Amino acid sequence: MPGRLEQAGVLPGPAEISKTEPQPGGIGFTTRLEIACLANLFLGTPTRILMRVATFKAERFSVLERQTAGIDWELFLPEGLKDSKLTIQVTTRKSRLYHTDAVAERIRPQVLNRLKETTGGSNCDTGHSPQTLMVRAENDRFALSLDMSGSPLYKRGIKTRVIQAPLRETLGFAILKRLEFSRQDILMDPMCGSGTFALEAAMMQADAPPGIFRTFAFESWPSFKNNSFRHAKDKITDQVVTPPEAAIFASDLDQSAVTHLKETKSGHPVFSSIQVACENFFDITPPATSHGVVVLNPPYGKRLGNDMDINVFFREIGRKLAGDFKGYRACVIYPEKHLADALGLHLTPMPLFHGGLDLFAGIGKIA
Ligand SMILES: C[S@@+](CC[C@H](N)C(=O)[O-])C[C@H]1O[C@@H](n2cnc3c(N)ncnc32)[C@H](O)[C@@H]1O
Repeated sequence: MPGRLEQAGVLPGPAEISKTEPQPGGIGFTTRLEIACLANLFLGTPTRILMRVATFKAERFSVLERQTAGIDWELFLPEGLKDSKLTIQVTTRKSRLYHTDAVAERIRPQVLNRLKETTGGSNCDTGHSPQTLMVRAENDRFALSLDMSGSPLYKRGIKTRVIQAPLRETLGFAILKRLEFSRQDILMDPMCGSGTFALEAAMMQADAPPGIFRTFAFESWPSFKNNSFRHAKDKITDQVVTPPEAAIFASDLDQSAVTHLKETKSGHPVFSSIQVACENFFDITPPATSHGVVVLNPPYGKRLGNDMDINVFFREIGRKLAGDFKGYRACVIYPEKHLADALGLHLTPMPLFHGGLDLFAGIGKIA
């Protein structure tokens, strides 16, 4: 989390977050609810943040029902939450209660009945956002967690339309961090598509947190302290800085992608540093700078077109980068390991799991 905001008292010090540890598919940490809310706003790489509600052992449905009915759901789930707005996702492993649908069916009435009992039976729909309860059982131990985020955190609330094969914002953010992208740098995103890299980079340079333009599921929880969250958001808005001029260049061959990105960036002054053009990557002359970062997410598969050999395409990309982008820190995303040879840039491959595909992000400096 950025130091300036920590100094301004918006962010907690490290002592507020403890027991940070890698877990399968994520990272666990312990903190206050208020700070977990800020984590949703500030963290750029997670897909979602879950809040653990309870853990217990259950080998029989009666125990599962009793344990679930005893949880203070009224603290977290909104009064009047409709059945249709509660999703229960269950995974089980090596457990006697292994049938995921049956587990969900037993849990659901316990949660909804408890809400009705403790909130006076109101069932009016007050327009709350959908809520998701994640249930994981392993070796008969159950862990129940509520999804604080709502829609996945890579949905930043910025793009109004979806184009083909966009990169997830969380990956774009992680790659820019890995490239140590900063306010001193300029960014070239010459196959920009919907402009994920450019938009993330603009927010980074303006010190705007990744979640500033969206809402979260926790905002309709009764225990959520709206005033302090709003206060933190207002402070953050005061801290957002004017982005450096002419810092981010996004271009694409496809005129519709360019038009779309122009529309998106017009939505907020934070994106004013992005210059958008319809250009062929192979015709671009980048600015000579010792602070250059270039990111490329080229098409592959059927989007490359039938008559294009992928090896030739990546060899051409490698030649262009080696010829015109010397000294730039670079990331090229490629779908198969052997394409690193075609690129020929000696980039370090980082495995990338994206949209069900195993890709690679080649990271390094163009020598
Ligand atoms: C996988 S998409 C990029 C997606 C982008 N990272 C995003 O988040 O939306 C690849 C893009 O490369 C563009 N493209 C392909 N060949 C190009 C070229 N020679 N010059 C510029 N853009 C090109 C395509 O039009 C397409 O928008």
